[in-house]
Amino acid sequence: MSSGAGEHRLHSKLEEALEIKSLRRIISAYLNYSDAAEEDVKRYERSYKQLPPAHKAILSHIPFKFQRLRRSISVNSFFIMSMLQAFEPPLDMSQDIDIREKEDRDDVCNDHLSGERNFSYGLIPTTSGKTPETDQLYCGEGINMRCKSPENRTSDEGVPVVSKSVSMENTTGLNNAGRNDAMDINCEAGLCSVSDSNGNVCSVQQDWLDPSLQLQVPLADVDKVRCIIRNIVRDWAPEGQWERDQCYKPILEELDHLFPSRSKDRPPCCLVPGAGLGRLALEISCLGFISQGNEFSYYMMICSNFILNQTVFQTHATELSCFYSTEAVGEWTIYPWIHSNCNSLSDNDQLCPVSFPDIHPASVGITEGFSMCGGDFVEVYSDPSQEGAWDTIVTCFFIDTAHNIVEYIETISRLLVDGGAWINLGPLLYHFADAFGTEDEMSIELSLEDVKKVAFQYGFQLEREKFIETTYTANPRSMMQNRYSAAFWTMTKIQKPSKDSPQPT
Ligand SMILES: C[S@@+](CC[C@H](N)C(=O)[O-])C[C@H]1O[C@@H](n2cnc3c(N)ncnc32)[C@H](O)[C@@H]1O
Repeated sequence: MSSGAGEHRLHSKLEEALEIKSLRRIISAYLNYSDAAEEDVKRYERSYKQLPPAHKAILSHIPFKFQRLRRSISVNSFFIMSMLQAFEPPLDMSQDIDIREKEDRDDVCNDHLSGERNFSYGLIPTTSGKTPETDQLYCGEGINMRCKSPENRTSDEGVPVVSKSVSMENTTGLNNAGRNDAMDINCEAGLCSVSDSNGNVCSVQQDWLDPSLQLQVPLADVDKVRCIIRNIVRDWAPEGQWERDQCYKPILEELDHLFPSRSKDRPPCCLVPGAGLGRLALEISCLGFISQGNEFSYYMMICSNFILNQTVFQTHATELSCFYSTEAVGEWTIYPWIHSNCNSLSDNDQLCPVSFPDIHPASVGITEGFSMCGGDFVEVYSDPSQEGAWDTIVTCFFIDTAHNIVEYIETISRLLVDGGAWINLGPLLYHFADAFGTEDEMSIELSLEDVKKVAFQYGFQLEREKFIETTYTANPRSMMQNRYSAAFWTMTKIQKPSKDSPQPT
């Protein structure tokens, strides 16, 4: 064996070990959700207990609120557990990883941490490669893989399928209505049981949920789980309709306007980098585009995978009747607003349940070729086969996630076909602007004027622009609303002059 091949194997092993470590941390964050929320409630209780009796008497209803909070936490935890049970890690999560020994060699291997493995899937987010530890706004966590250009997809990709069904044991015949009851969740030695307030128990075996593999995670990681819960409302609940109308509708209308006569035989291809929980990419697919969402965060992908693919569980409804109903719309309930006592008009607002999904993703009429692709946008689409492969690229609340926004714009330009359209909507809340991590973490923070200047340098021409007032994962009932005046534009990549045409002097 050549030393090159040996080194390559070592690098792949290192990548895999780092990815397993990162994924374990994310799964641990999900599993820690319940304990962290319980700690909050205990804190509220301690404060309440310190009140003088006269004040307590006025607020005698507050202990009941704590009970309701606990019930809501267990309903959220039940959803999280169900989602984790359905997740199929792309790697063998039970394998031993001696990450410290490997990290010692990290300095040597660092240059090669760029994801050489290749996974592909239809609606199933699958990931590979680099695992940045960076804390990003909007729950970012890194993964990396290559994606195929639209023409290179095989026919089975882009079809909403789950590769394996989740095996769940229905020990009690807990019905769907039971889902919305308070649940107790226990995980010991990989056997997870979820029980409701009536003592009904469902048990599920997942090796990689074995507590011995779980890590202690910082509270900031658990915050990302809370952020995902809010993103569910944005993308998949009726309560998110206003935000979707502000953000997604103008994009969909613009796509419709730009591609008025879409051919069913050869639909235009649309890429959605930073696709979050996948709703926009799905809507674009329904509009008659071959749509691919690209997403970087395992937090997001575990959740979007569950929501987008849950229809398969319908097929297995008899096996899985413990967990999954035959009706997908409004199937799940969460309490997204329970984690803050601030700015509530009433306790009922804070404790308000939200049901989702508002639509059944597999029955809304997607265009063949819909897929979600995991990994860092710039790396995943660096393959030469991606050049000029996309008719349109849609970025929604995405471009400010860049360390280097110029690189994003350069990549968007490279991926678009000549004459292709870039539709953007979002603010410039640069995610790394306040990064307190490593001192040399790059963050290029340009004004809108400069962003446009850079785009013009990469061959873009501005067609339309305006500002749209909107929020991002806002609680509509809160007294505090962070509003963005989001920039919305359409640019086209102007045709490169052919080699024969006269060059400007
Ligand atoms: C603010 S969220 C917007 C999500 C969605 N577009 C929406 O409007 O709800 C930005 C998303 O971009 C993802 N992201 C950040 N950096 C990324 C990268 N380099 N490649 C792919 N996705 C990335 C984040 O994980 C996050 O889901």
